[in-house]
Amino acid sequence: MTVSITWHGHATFSLDIAGTKIVVDPFFAGNNPAAKTAVADVAADYILQTHGHGDHIADTLTLAKRTGAQVICNFEIMNWISSHGHENCHAMNTGGGYNFPFGRVKMTPALHSSGLPDGTYGGDPGGYLLTVSGLRLYIAGDTALFSDMVMIGADGLDLAILPIGDNYTMGPDDSLLALEYLNPKVVVPCHYNTWPVIAVDAEDWANQVRANTSTKPIIPAIDEPFSL
Ligand code: NI
Ligand code: MN
Repeated sequence: MTVSITWHGHATFSLDIAGTKIVVDPFFAGNNPAAKTAVADVAADYILQTHGHGDHIADTLTLAKRTGAQVICNFEIMNWISSHGHENCHAMNTGGGYNFPFGRVKMTPALHSSGLPDGTYGGDPGGYLLTVSGLRLYIAGDTALFSDMVMIGADGLDLAILPIGDNYTMGPDDSLLALEYLNPKVVVPCHYNTWPVIAVDAEDWANQVRANTSTKPIIPAIDEPFSL
């Protein structure tokens, strides 16, 4: 079974898993300078929240309230979302996995921070390892390079979504080392070119991935789905 994935710019993705729609880190047009799609036009059954920063959560409440989507996030973000009027959350924490109707979700560590836009403590940042439709997908979230990525990749990965923008997260060079640790079949970059401070020549990065790793880079165009 295939999984359809759409990049909306920055770190926001939509996944279609056999008809179940999962939105990762909702940050859409009006808030996200790289996005073309408005949050009002997005469908969601679930929202996967990696951490509490505004460039990941700015449209979460709006999307969750309109669609009724269940927000999968850490415990502290669940409390914040509930206190803002959306009760349908599923709290997890680092290292924990849970079997959802669409597949298994495991929360992975991330080296970053996670404060919420109003200053509320946002718990630890994370990433997600999804086992869905026979595929293993790793969404790193905002993170530095860390050598425990070896364990995340140990059972094989069909896809890794990695930040490459530098400054706030790992940059292009460290992402090459991350690919050595993770060894996914395909890598998709994110968290770059949204603002000048995270400008990256993605084609140059893709050439380095091809030259230095056995992973295939895919640079999706914004709002154009690709399938695995
Ligand atoms: Ni962040
Ligand atoms: Mn970010």
